[in-house]
Amino acid sequence: MIEPTEAANTFHAIVEERRTIRAFLPDPVPQEVLDRCLDSALRAASSSNLQPWEFVIIKNPEIRKQANAICFNQRGPETAPMLIAVVAHRETWKRHCRFILDTLKERGILRKSQEQYWGRLMPLIYIQGPFGILGCLKKTISRVVSLFRPMHNMLSLADLRVMTHKSTALGAATFMLALRAEGFDSCPMEGFDPWRAKKLLGLPRGAEVCMFLAVGKRSETGLWWERMLVPRAWAVREI
Ligand SMILES: Cc1cc2nc3c(=O)[nH]c(=O)nc-3n(C[C@H](O)[C@H](O)[C@H](O)COP(=O)(O)O)c2cc1C
Repeated sequence: MIEPTEAANTFHAIVEERRTIRAFLPDPVPQEVLDRCLDSALRAASSSNLQPWEFVIIKNPEIRKQANAICFNQRGPETAPMLIAVVAHRETWKRHCRFILDTLKERGILRKSQEQYWGRLMPLIYIQGPFGILGCLKKTISRVVSLFRPMHNMLSLADLRVMTHKSTALGAATFMLALRAEGFDSCPMEGFDPWRAKKLLGLPRGAEVCMFLAVGKRSETGLWWERMLVPRAWAVREI
């Protein structure tokens, strides 16, 4: 029998304690706590290390009021002292590839393979052409090739959306766990109007709100039901 370490026990307890909270106390989230949680979130894994996320902390009361309405005035955001939009960016890849290549160069460890990966392969994956036509073409060709040999085929605009949202959601998940470790709670939401959210936050092309997070300390009425987990056999399989 392998006993869990103390660190493992602490981690599992935090995972267990993190619940979606739908009513919050008015106590503010201290800036130091927020910063530590963001620092953890920004260390989440991301596809090709492209870190496509942005955490928009909504401080302006007027924007906050409109954001609550965009989230259909759900009880979470209505009562939470803080609301954060976690944004997935599809168009930051170029800047981030450059950053990675420059960093590797500065550290004196830039290899040819890395130059090819972030300098050549990433543009090949991310460039979509007008109306995503190039993306569709790349997708079709790669699908045919994959009939004969393994081939990367996350190449269309829709695939890029999946890729950026996947990584961004990992950042959001890490953030929520960090909040719980600090004694704070969250309510993740995809129940919002995406078009209005994009407009309200002034997001650029290729950016979308992945989810809103209402953040604060749970009130007594904040937890709406006991955890409900589908049978483990539906979720875990060995082959
Ligand atoms: C991507 C995502 C979107 C969600 N959207 C909403 C939402 O709009 N409103 C809400 O009250 N809860 C929302 N939830 C919370 C889920 O309902 C909740 O995670 C689920 O019921 C499991 O409960 P737990 O988080 O307490 O374990 C969302 C969760 C995720 C991960």
